[in-house]
Amino acid sequence: LPIRASSYQHELVQTAKSIASPSRGILAIDESNATCGKRLASIGLDNTEVNRQAYRQLLLTTPGLGEYISGAILFEETLYQSTTDGNKFVDCLRDQNIVPDIKVDKGLVPLPGSNNESWSAEYYKQGARFAKWRTVVSIPCGPSALAVKEAAWGLARYAAISQDNGLVPIVEPEILLDGDHPIERTLEVAEKVWSEVFFYLAENNVLFEGILLKPSMVTPGAEHTEKASPETIAKYTLTMLRRRVPPALPGIMFLSGGQSEVEATLNLNAMNQSPNPWHVSFSYARALQNTVLKTWQGHPENVEAAQKSLLVRAKANSLAQLGRYSA
Ligand code: 13P
Repeated sequence: LPIRASSYQHELVQTAKSIASPSRGILAIDESNATCGKRLASIGLDNTEVNRQAYRQLLLTTPGLGEYISGAILFEETLYQSTTDGNKFVDCLRDQNIVPDIKVDKGLVPLPGSNNESWSAEYYKQGARFAKWRTVVSIPCGPSALAVKEAAWGLARYAAISQDNGLVPIVEPEILLDGDHPIERTLEVAEKVWSEVFFYLAENNVLFEGILLKPSMVTPGAEHTEKASPETIAKYTLTMLRRRVPPALPGIMFLSGGQSEVEATLNLNAMNQSPNPWHVSFSYARALQNTVLKTWQGHPENVEAAQKSLLVRAKANSLAQLGRYSA
């Protein structure tokens, strides 16, 4: 039933479905060069292209990764890079049945106009089949009605442009964890943000069957006096999603947002204790990579151990996607 006159309609639905497939989720390694530099600095490495490439090679050539990972979000530099023995990273992913994704936001910049269609087409040619645009909403800063509207409209325009160019858009209005507010306040803001996002997605005739969401979980602010249990986080997050997200959407792929690796897994597991209308899974960066970085330390002799630690987290989250994880 056509809703968008996109020649990619069928492919978009298939791509979204293959990413939202049972027991798999997304590995997010789309840190900008500046953020990747911070991660490398934490293990005493310089922020050079060679070091970024070595780190991404470690991650993307992990044997068996495709069993747990259905998509990988790349920064532009990685999309065009190859392994040291000349295999394109995009092909390494394809060999493991992992769909390559390109991060198209480059920080908080003015909204793109229609001429951005040409760079989306370029990414499709390069092998990307889905795209990610992240924008942030801060609770301690208000958020102001204007900021929410701007974030929602920008995401909807990006989603429409991506679909017209054959890329499944990941829609990510990240509600930052910062603040000392209770969980009820996060729920209120999340409901507001998602209602505006869906209003504008519909207004732009975005095909809901061909998008994926990347929400923050509904938690208390990071500086709130009490921590919430995985069951409470699951209850609030699912309440928000059921109120705001249509069942036509294939997948909800959560970001980890600064939670520890185990917390992110336990929270996802709690959300999969009963059936959901959508595939509820992960698209973690830090909660998949923290131990990998610490294990690697930039030494070639540690690559195998670091890859094993990535598989441990990926498998734990795969079980959590099925609601079968126990710590
Ligand atoms: P975190 O899981 O570290 O919050 O990263 C999410 C993200 O947006 C990366 O794509």
